[in-house]
Order: sequence, then structure tokens, then C-alpha cells
Amino acid sequence: MPQLGYGTYKITPADTVEAVTLALEAGYRHIDTAQMYGNEAEVGRAIAESGIPRREIFLTTKLNNTNHEPAAARQSFATSLEDLQTDYVDLFLIHWPLPTLYGGDYLSTWKVLEEFFADGRSKSIGVSNFLPEHIGVLLEGGDVVPAVNQIEIHPYFTNDESRRKNAEAGIVTQAWSPLGRGAVLTDPVITKIAERVGATPAQVVLSWHVNRGDVVIPKSVTPERIVSNMDIFDVPLTAQDYENITALNRGEEGRQGSNPRTMNRL
Ligand SMILES: NC(=O)c1ccc[n+]([C@@H]2O[C@H](COP(=O)([O-])OP(=O)(O)OC[C@H]3O[C@@H](n4cnc5c(N)ncnc54)[C@H](OP(=O)(O)O)[C@@H]3O)[C@@H](O)[C@H]2O)c1
Repeated sequence: MPQLGYGTYKITPADTVEAVTLALEAGYRHIDTAQMYGNEAEVGRAIAESGIPRREIFLTTKLNNTNHEPAAARQSFATSLEDLQTDYVDLFLIHWPLPTLYGGDYLSTWKVLEEFFADGRSKSIGVSNFLPEHIGVLLEGGDVVPAVNQIEIHPYFTNDESRRKNAEAGIVTQAWSPLGRGAVLTDPVITKIAERVGATPAQVVLSWHVNRGDVVIPKSVTPERIVSNMDIFDVPLTAQDYENITALNRGEEGRQGSNPRTMNRL
């Protein structure tokens, strides 16, 4: 999996073909979508029309919160493949654990994803927004260890306890909202480093992520940003810069998204 991917949350269906086409032209070969985003068909169209061989693109989608029951998971996964115009995805994730819904039974949902892995329609399977306690349930009751846990991470919410649990279990951590949806980009610690090293604040933040070993999937519909967000592997940050960025962590107060323990939106 390329360590840098392109996120598509909140890109409207009308804008998605153009945005994903720009991303593919810029060189992204890892695209992150979800049933919930309502743009799988447009992501599929952009990939099909790009002329890039399917095997060169790492494609992820996610099970919507409405589809945790086994029958709905099977049916919606088949629809995702159809919409994405592909026989397989590289990664399929349970989007949220929803521990207060479906009787708290995300293990049965996980077992359905194991079917997609076994029949080859998902080359790998994983989860998103799973806290260490939820990961523990899958390690205990599942047959396949999740390949990935995609969780909120950025300098205001470093989410280290979850990252540690993932690492212990051999699970790759992907950082969603790696730019804190833009919130961290005006922080004086980050803008000062960016000025000193001649990079954009987003490049500084994305470089911090990849140096921590996480996979990042920044989203942008702005052509210059789509391009500059890729140029993050040679930003000359010092050990002190990394420490100063990590020290911006605000713990729970820094979260931009929902807390997985209480998230129950269908
Ligand atoms: N699994 C989950 O529950 C979950 C939740 C949230 C997100 N995600 C995934 O993670 C991806 C990224 O997260 P996100 O979209 O929430 O937030 P993000 O990538 O942290 O931030 C996106 C915002 O930052 C702006 N931006 C991007 N590059 C910039 C740059 N170089 N300079 C200044 N501003 C910049 C974008 O504006 P413009 O677009 O206007 O340029 C947009 O407003 C999503 O698209 C989705 O694929 C997953």
C-alpha cells in the first residue's frame, strides 16, 4: 500500500471525477473512498477512464454504518464493486465499530468481511475507528487479523494509545483527517517550521505523519494542493521539529470527529 493516499470524503459526486482524475494525473496510486461518501461510482469512473491498469491502483472502500447486518454487508459490498467498476478492492474496512448499535456485535460483521477476503474480492480487510478494546474483540474472536485500522490522527490528536495497540497487533495505522481538516495548518509552531524549511504547512504536517510510520490520506480538491501534498518525503525536519509538533497534542479535546465509543449515527 502506498504510504500516501488520496482522501475523497466530502467531495461531492459532481466534483469527484475531476478531483480523482487530477489526483491520478499527479501520481497518487492509492484512493480512499467509502459507501458513506456517496461517490464510489464517480471514483470508479475516474479510475476506469484514467487508462491506468487497475492493478497499479490501491483502492479502499468502507462498509456504511447502515450495513452491519450480514445480509446488508454482503449486498452492499457487491454494489460497491459494481459502482467502482472493479472485481476487487485492495482494502475493505468496517467504517465504525458502533458498539452501542447492533447489540454491540461488530464481530459478526467482521466475519462477513473475512468471506470477502477468502473469496479474493477484497485483497485485504481492516477496520476504521476501532479503539484498542474493539481490536481486542476481533483478535480474540476472528480468524483474520485486520490489516489496517484507519483512525483520526493529526498534531492536535496524536492518538498514540490506538497507534500502539495497532503496532502490537501488527496492524497498519492509517491517519484520517491528517491535516485536522485544515485546523492545524495555521498553528504558529507549524507555520514557523514551514517558513524555515521552505515547505507548506501541509507538507510539514504530512511529513511528520509519514516519519511516524503512519499511512496518510489527505483530501483536497484544489489542484496545487493535490500536487504539493505529494511532495512530503524530503522535508528537512529536525528531531526537535518532530518533538514540537507532537507536543501540540490536546488529547480528547483535539478530536475533530466523533468518539468511536459513542458514535451511533446511521
Ligand atoms: N474513516 C473515517 O471515519 C474517516 C473520517 C474522515 C476522513 N476520512 C478519510 O480521510 C481523508 C482525509 O480527511 P479529511 O478529508 O477529513 O481531512 P484532511 O485531509 O485533514 O483536510 C482536508 C481539508 O484540508 C484542506 N487542505 C488540503 N490540503 C491543503 C493544503 N495543502 N493547504 C491548505 N489546506 C489544505 C482541504 O481543502 P480543499 O479541498 O478545499 O483544498 C480540506 O478542507 C478523507 O477524505 C477520507 O478519505 C476517513
